[in-house]
Amino acid sequence: MEQPSTTTGGRDQFRSRIGFIFAAAGSAVGLGNIWKFPYLAGTNGGGVFVVIYLACVILIGFSLMLMEFALGRNTSLAAVGAFRKLDSRFKFVGVMGVFSAFLIMGFYPVVGGWSLSYIFKTIMGELAVTDAATLGGVFDTLITGVFSPIFWTALYLVINIVIVAGGIGAGIEKASKWMMPALFVLLIILVVRSLTLPNAGEGLKYMFAPDWSKLSGGVALAAMGQAFFSLSLGMGCMITYSSYLSKDENLVSNAFIVPGMDTLVAILAGMVIIPAAISFNFEVGAGPGLVFVTVPAIFATMGPVVGKLFGIIFFVLIALAAITSSISLLEVIVSYLIDEKNMTRKKAVGATSVILFIMCIAASMSLGDWSGFTILGNGIFDTFDKITTFITMPLGGLFISLFVGWFWGKEKAKNEVTNNGTVKFALFDVWFFLCKWVIPAIILVIFITGIPSFPG
Ligand code: TRP
Repeated sequence: MEQPSTTTGGRDQFRSRIGFIFAAAGSAVGLGNIWKFPYLAGTNGGGVFVVIYLACVILIGFSLMLMEFALGRNTSLAAVGAFRKLDSRFKFVGVMGVFSAFLIMGFYPVVGGWSLSYIFKTIMGELAVTDAATLGGVFDTLITGVFSPIFWTALYLVINIVIVAGGIGAGIEKASKWMMPALFVLLIILVVRSLTLPNAGEGLKYMFAPDWSKLSGGVALAAMGQAFFSLSLGMGCMITYSSYLSKDENLVSNAFIVPGMDTLVAILAGMVIIPAAISFNFEVGAGPGLVFVTVPAIFATMGPVVGKLFGIIFFVLIALAAITSSISLLEVIVSYLIDEKNMTRKKAVGATSVILFIMCIAASMSLGDWSGFTILGNGIFDTFDKITTFITMPLGGLFISLFVGWFWGKEKAKNEVTNNGTVKFALFDVWFFLCKWVIPAIILVIFITGIPSFPG
């Protein structure tokens, strides 16, 4: 992506249409798709979770993405500034988004660090087995440790800092241009491998045939929160990115393409991991370690050379996908400090990263030595994750759609999404109806039924 510059007076724009799609898709496709989606599907009853997730993407995701695009481009300001300019009573939505970005960046780099460490472990040949106890042991040793996970988290954070501080933005744009296609190709190869393992059909059934007896408010809220998380919605991230977007860009088609790609990657990742986990007799409800345990086992069945090669490529791609997501989160915080607090980009990045590193150390330690410290039954890592997925992002989405539907007004919304009538958007009335009535209603109902299950 093009790095927004703060030294030139005017606001930078993405140079090409493809540049924005890659940046937005790069933000959306990340650990949420490859790490979180498969394990949440595993712990939340499989098919029920997947069906509610897909319903939320279709009914909420596309429309909310379009709202965020419109708000960002209309104001050319990041989340807080956008609301300050349009209606200062809604400024708190932007502030809540910055808060969410802090919390997510308080654990995301820890997982990013795990994936860097897995590149190294694959190279060293530590993972070339299919047995659950060994692979689970490697993962547990890593995450409950002290020096190693913090070292990899620090390395991961440094990569993000260097990119967001400026300079190599062009490199990221180039990297994500081949990363996305490469990720698709690799996932498809892995889907084939996974589905030809013995008993893989059971996995597909688990993932796609909903067992409605497993439905609960908590499962629905987890699925909706995951849709927000995976699409980078509900906290102003897409507002921030689209504030750098040019006035003749077609927002409507972007709002279809980006969620479409994101959902495809999540489903493919699920189709790699869940059938394989069931085939190898691993525990599908194992939680955050699911990808890190299952995927090495798949590679181990592909022979020492091919398996190792694919393993390295896979973890490099996960790390890259994670980086293009976390720089968008960091950008939310940094552009807030630049736009609203008049900081320079370098100072904003510096101050933010010190705080984030401390939060990440706490999150990482909470999986090991500090696991005794809990808030409402959740450790620090889970607290950061659950506050955002269960509370601040759904509420952010609720207020964004209430704002667009009830306060911004139909005319202004129409002019923005259709570029003053030059872009055809036949479904405008449907979209606006969704924004005004359907989306707030769905979010409220799921939020109220699911929130009692927030304590761990
Ligand atoms: N969507 C990313 C993922 O799936 C994570 C992410 C990036 C995010 N920016 C965000 C989540 C903004 C919520 C809000 O990994």
